[in-house]
Amino acid sequence: MLSPAAKKRLFSLLASGLRFFGGLFYDRRYLVGAYFDDSFIGWKWVVRGILFQKILKFNRNIPWPVSPLNVVSIGRNLKFHPDDINMFNEMTGKYFQNFAAPIRIGKGTWIASNVGIITANHDPNDLTRHLPGAEVVIGESCWIGMNSVILPGVRLGPHTVVGAGSVVTHSFPEGHCVLAGNPARLLRRLDEPGQAEVGVAPK
Ligand SMILES: CC(C)(COP(=O)(O)OP(=O)(O)OC[C@H]1O[C@@H](n2cnc3c(N)ncnc32)[C@H](O)[C@@H]1OP(=O)(O)O)[C@@H](O)C(=O)NCCC(=O)NCCS
Repeated sequence: MLSPAAKKRLFSLLASGLRFFGGLFYDRRYLVGAYFDDSFIGWKWVVRGILFQKILKFNRNIPWPVSPLNVVSIGRNLKFHPDDINMFNEMTGKYFQNFAAPIRIGKGTWIASNVGIITANHDPNDLTRHLPGAEVVIGESCWIGMNSVILPGVRLGPHTVVGAGSVVTHSFPEGHCVLAGNPARLLRRLDEPGQAEVGVAPK
C-alpha cells in the first residue's frame, strides 16, 4: 500500500503529464486549482472537451474546458477563478453572452442551470444588430439561482443570492443580500462576514 505522501507525489506526477497533454488543447493557466491539482474531475472535463470542443466544435475557441451543454461566446472576455471552472462544466443551459463586453465573476460564485448572463441586447429597431455592450460584474461568493437572467451593465456585490427565475435589471453593488423576482428586488440583507472572507471580482 502506498503512503498518503507517496500517493500525493504519484498524483502530482500524473497531473504534470496530464497538464502537458491538456496544454496541447487548452491554455495551461486554466488547468490548475481545485479540480486539477487534487482531483481527476477536471481531467475528465479535458477529455470530454477534446471531443466536443476540439473535434465537434462546440465552444471551440474557448481556452478552457466547457461542457457542450453550456455556451460561452468569447473566452478572453470572461474573467473567473480556476477553482470555479465547474460552473462551465456542471449542469446545463448556461449562456455567458460576452461578445460585446466582459463578464467578471468573483471567486466562490455558484451559477445554477439555465442562467443567462447577457452583455448586449439586440437593437429593438433592427434585430439583426446588437446595441453596444456593457460589462457584467458578479462579486465573490454569490449564488445565481436557476433560470435567472442578469442583464447588461449589472454589477452585483459580494455574497449576493439571486432567487430562482429572477431577472436582474439593475445593479446591487453593496452585496450581502438576497434578490428575487422580475424585475429582481431586494428580499432581505445578509450578515456581512469579515472583509477577508469575500472580495471583489477579478480584474
Ligand atoms: C431566494 C431563495 C434563496 C430563498 O430565500 P429566502 O430568504 O429563504 O426566502 P423565503 O423562502 O423565506 O421567501 C421570502 C419571500 O420571497 C419570495 N420568494 C422566494 N424565492 C423567490 C423567487 N425565487 N422569486 C420570487 N419570489 C421569491 C417568497 O414567496 C416569499 O414571499 P412572501 O413573503 O410574499 O411569502 C430561494 O427561494 C431560491 O430562489 N433559491 C434558488 C434555488 C435554485 O435555483 N437552486 C438551483 C440549484 S443550485
